[in-house]
Amino acid sequence: MKWETFDSYGSLSARAAELTLGAIHEDSRVVFGLPTGRTPLGMYARVVEICSRKYHCFREVTTFNLDEYAGIACNHPGSYCTYMHEHLFDHVDIDRSRTHIPDGRAADLEAECARYERSIRQAGGLGVTFLGLGRNGHIGFNEPGTSFESRTRVVSLTESTRRANAALFADGEVPAKAITMGIGTILESRAIVLLVSGEGKEAAVERLRSQEINEQFPASALHLHPDVTVLSSRAGHVPR
Ligand code: GLP
Repeated sequence: MKWETFDSYGSLSARAAELTLGAIHEDSRVVFGLPTGRTPLGMYARVVEICSRKYHCFREVTTFNLDEYAGIACNHPGSYCTYMHEHLFDHVDIDRSRTHIPDGRAADLEAECARYERSIRQAGGLGVTFLGLGRNGHIGFNEPGTSFESRTRVVSLTESTRRANAALFADGEVPAKAITMGIGTILESRAIVLLVSGEGKEAAVERLRSQEINEQFPASALHLHPDVTVLSSRAGHVPR
């Protein structure tokens, strides 16, 4: 695990954008695993800024989002589908048929999870996966106690995760369930970049640095992967 530490959220975001564009430069058909949340907002903003100058950044890129809430439609303001359109897809030359987000409204959620795993395989597997970090160490929506071999599946969200994500739900009613890639799915990525910024992440960062590997701390699974870069900036730099 390589660590890169930044003084500001801006420099962390610039570095994350550089890794994104570098991966596309190396392989224009790269497959990305993509995160949501507040942490990657700066990365997406920077990528959009650069790509709007230098057209055809994303033409052949494929993306798979890590997770989505169950029971809400793509056009719900709190959905990760809305987030991705707002912060990336609507501003770059990505082919929409190459963007993938679990369908939280599928009639059969289990079948949707299996379909998602199949699509990842058909795309040749995840190339570079970017992750954020939950305060309790979750990655995607893999909460403490998740098996490191888990695959894409339906999960129940913890109260603390629901509270942390309440801002985009007008009534504060965050869905109780979500679809998330499993930790086993994420670990099959060829490279992983973990972005850590924001208040209340210090304890999680300390725990990750301690090298302890424990299913009660989902991010510690990343110690099992040979190519992980952690970009971390001091707390409190994430825009609200
Ligand atoms: C949500 C997402 C995670 C994300 C985490 C941290 O729970 N499902 O993928 O990493 O929040 O979010 P933030 O970056 O807003 O702290």
